[in-house]
Amino acid sequence: MNPSATENIYLPKIAVLDRVVDEIVEVKTFHWHFEDPADQAAFKKFRPGQFAQVSLFGVGEFPASLPPSPTEDATFFTVKKVGSCTTALHALQPGDKFAVRGPYGNGFPMEEYEGKNLVFVAGGIGLIPLRSCIIYALKHREKYNRIQIFLGAKTPRDLMYRDNLREWEKSAGVECYLTVDRATDGWTGHVGVVGSLFKKPGVEVAVDNTIAFVCGPPVMFRFVIKDLLDMGFQARNIVSTLERYMKCGVGKCGHCCIGVAYVCTDGPVFTYEQIRKLGEDI
Ligand SMILES: Cc1cc2nc3c(=O)[nH]c(=O)nc-3n(C[C@H](O)[C@H](O)[C@H](O)COP(=O)(O)OP(=O)(O)OC[C@H]3O[C@@H](n4cnc5c(N)ncnc54)[C@H](O)[C@@H]3O)c2cc1C
Ligand code: FES
Repeated sequence: MNPSATENIYLPKIAVLDRVVDEIVEVKTFHWHFEDPADQAAFKKFRPGQFAQVSLFGVGEFPASLPPSPTEDATFFTVKKVGSCTTALHALQPGDKFAVRGPYGNGFPMEEYEGKNLVFVAGGIGLIPLRSCIIYALKHREKYNRIQIFLGAKTPRDLMYRDNLREWEKSAGVECYLTVDRATDGWTGHVGVVGSLFKKPGVEVAVDNTIAFVCGPPVMFRFVIKDLLDMGFQARNIVSTLERYMKCGVGKCGHCCIGVAYVCTDGPVFTYEQIRKLGEDI
């Protein structure tokens, strides 16, 4: 959405909550639409990895990852309750209003990756931004070679987007591997950190001509990056999203700066090579 010279870039548009779906503990998906159909029509195209600023009246704003571009006149955010804004969002009921501005950020350059293998590695709610990329890649399946998905969660109850996981596990065009740190609730699948899936018998990670997408908590990120580098991945072929405390979301306030980069406009998607150059200690 490119604001015209007269448009106030900080002015969010009114959104209406349609329904709420429980994902895992403290994480819900909020389906919503813009109150004004013209705002909805203008909010149709975004890249996987882009985000929007979500406003809760009288509380504040926070960045949330956008799902794949909507085909219908509605969209959603998946949000973990962690602080004041996300708690206020979790308290809303269908019909309640909040506000949204965006889309912002660079997103994953999926066109650049055409013809390559894609390896997705997600831990916990790191699947929120990666789910958009996976759905995009599957929608344009013929443009990519092998697609491998490695997902880790603390326990089986912490595995998100279960309908998608079931679909990806069954899909002929995808290799999908799941693991949990602790087996509970009759789990009979793999147990171990997500990186242990790379060494599971029968698993052969595509390394050559491959882009690896990694999103998850910092400790998982560190170990997975080490595993990928040990396997022969180059830092420029590993991509992730950086989380920073944001205010404006449009490169004006400087809250999200790391080194010379603004996470809100230069990111949030960076290669691991860029992350290292920025001096980011993940
Ligand atoms: C690009 C991007 C996309 C995101 N997408 C999602 C998403 O799709 N779903 C989702 O659930 N979350 C997402 N997040 C994370 C989310 O924006 C944050 O968790 C946000 O801070 C929540 O706002 P809050 O007011 O509820 O919590 P806050 O009140 O902001 O508190 C959240 C945590 O941040 C800490 N904190 C507060 N202020 C600061 C500060 N100034 N500096 C450092 N730490 C601070 C708090 O102590 C607390 O631990 C995304 C973040 C980014 C940058
Ligand atoms: S959030 Fe204001 S410059 Fe990035």
